[in-house]
Amino acid sequence: MSRSASTSAAPSSPQLKNDKLWLTSGLLNGQWTSGTATDTFEVINPGTGKVMGTLPDMGVEDVKQAVKHAHEALKSWRKTSETERAAILTKIFQLTTENHEDLAQIITAENGKPLADARGEITYGASYFSWFAGEAVRNYGDVIPSATKGVQNTTIKQPIGVCGIITPWNFPNAMVTRKVAAALAAGNTVVLKAPAETPYSVLAMADICRQAGVPDGVINVITTSKHTADVGKEMCENPLIHKISFTGSTRVGKILMSQSASTLKKLSFELGGNAPFIVFDDADLDKAVAGVIACKFRQSGQTCVCANRVYVQDGVYEAFTTKLAEAVRNFKVGEGTGEGITHGPLIHQAAVDKVHSHVEDAVKNGAKVVIGGKKVDLPGYFYEPTVLTEVNSCAIDNEETFGPLAALYRFKTEEEVIARANDTEVGLAGYFFTENISRLHRVAAALEVGMVGANTGAISQAAIPFGGIKESGFGREGSKYGLQDWQNIKLISIGGL
Ligand code: SIN
Repeated sequence: MSRSASTSAAPSSPQLKNDKLWLTSGLLNGQWTSGTATDTFEVINPGTGKVMGTLPDMGVEDVKQAVKHAHEALKSWRKTSETERAAILTKIFQLTTENHEDLAQIITAENGKPLADARGEITYGASYFSWFAGEAVRNYGDVIPSATKGVQNTTIKQPIGVCGIITPWNFPNAMVTRKVAAALAAGNTVVLKAPAETPYSVLAMADICRQAGVPDGVINVITTSKHTADVGKEMCENPLIHKISFTGSTRVGKILMSQSASTLKKLSFELGGNAPFIVFDDADLDKAVAGVIACKFRQSGQTCVCANRVYVQDGVYEAFTTKLAEAVRNFKVGEGTGEGITHGPLIHQAAVDKVHSHVEDAVKNGAKVVIGGKKVDLPGYFYEPTVLTEVNSCAIDNEETFGPLAALYRFKTEEEVIARANDTEVGLAGYFFTENISRLHRVAAALEVGMVGANTGAISQAAIPFGGIKESGFGREGSKYGLQDWQNIKLISIGGL
């Protein structure tokens, strides 16, 4: 296998058992290469603020090349059987499991999340390969009763073709595997733009895919920072790409959607959320606190499905606040590799500044700081896990904080809280806690979101249809529905029978 000439890592890069997983360039047609890049960009470890490595800043010409290779590779890859593809996906799962610790170390170094969370992410990410290995071999079509005598209608499901994939930095491995596993299972080839903040996890995954037998050209990876917007535009406008799958902000989703209009691409977008988390008077408060910790503070609040607005009913407001503050006080914040660290840094300084501006804005509008509320004086990009009470009419109402800030709103009635929870343009996830079974069904049906967690704050797994409604996007990833987002359904109507 040809690798980039320089595989040496910066002093602050992770120490790996298998240093072959440390890749320092893009991947085009099975070759590790800088493409036409004349410049490099730095990747920063957010837990230390130090440079952990540099990568080529690839551009539009490299996307065009990648698409040509993917288009060429498609000719034979689409003809492989589902069973062959399932065997390769199973092998990817095995190799990911064998390299579990190294892959987790890479995540912690470039994303900052604590090692325990990074290990959990690799397990989660790998599960998409085993899941879609299973789905691939159950790629059934239909036989449809015909209205016309002597005609038989059948459907088959075929790959879409070359697919463009754009992934975020908050789950550097799992957001790649969720898309790539389904894309490959369906027989597509891909051109992947790695996030500038966390590209090493993407490159390592791509290498594992190749080791598992994914042929040259089936997966191509572009590394870029300065040319991100142009690379995205080329992916959306290139006529040989037939689908774009994107996880990221609603703002960028709208740009990509308009750019994709000229070639009418199939799109799957998992965009921003503003998840309500409702605690009713009849909730089990200990379970609700555990739920909000899992949901609000996972990955230091940097997930699209994180609770953003925590609504607590009047009768339990004080009791819930006390229990939550107690739990948050036990967090240990620091560099993700540190012993006992429960919460890592944010991804960059702008993220820290945004959380602080949300705190200041809430306080200006009457909120009180129960715990936290300040930047942490450590190298890297840390913010204190924060709990605010009496939050009302502030930026958090409409904007995702994407940080470790639990904003507690007070409410009186079920009707009122449903109206407030739904009063937003987005609808990814929503959560609530109640011990009343009728209320459970009523509220689950009423929340305008793609995913509901009732009496749980942790919903993610390969088996569920992950995705949103409203301005949180469309399409579903994972689950039995996840494969069809990467397929075309073709009708074959046979006459003269
Ligand atoms: C996301 O934040 O976009 C994904 C989170 C998850 O898969 O749980």
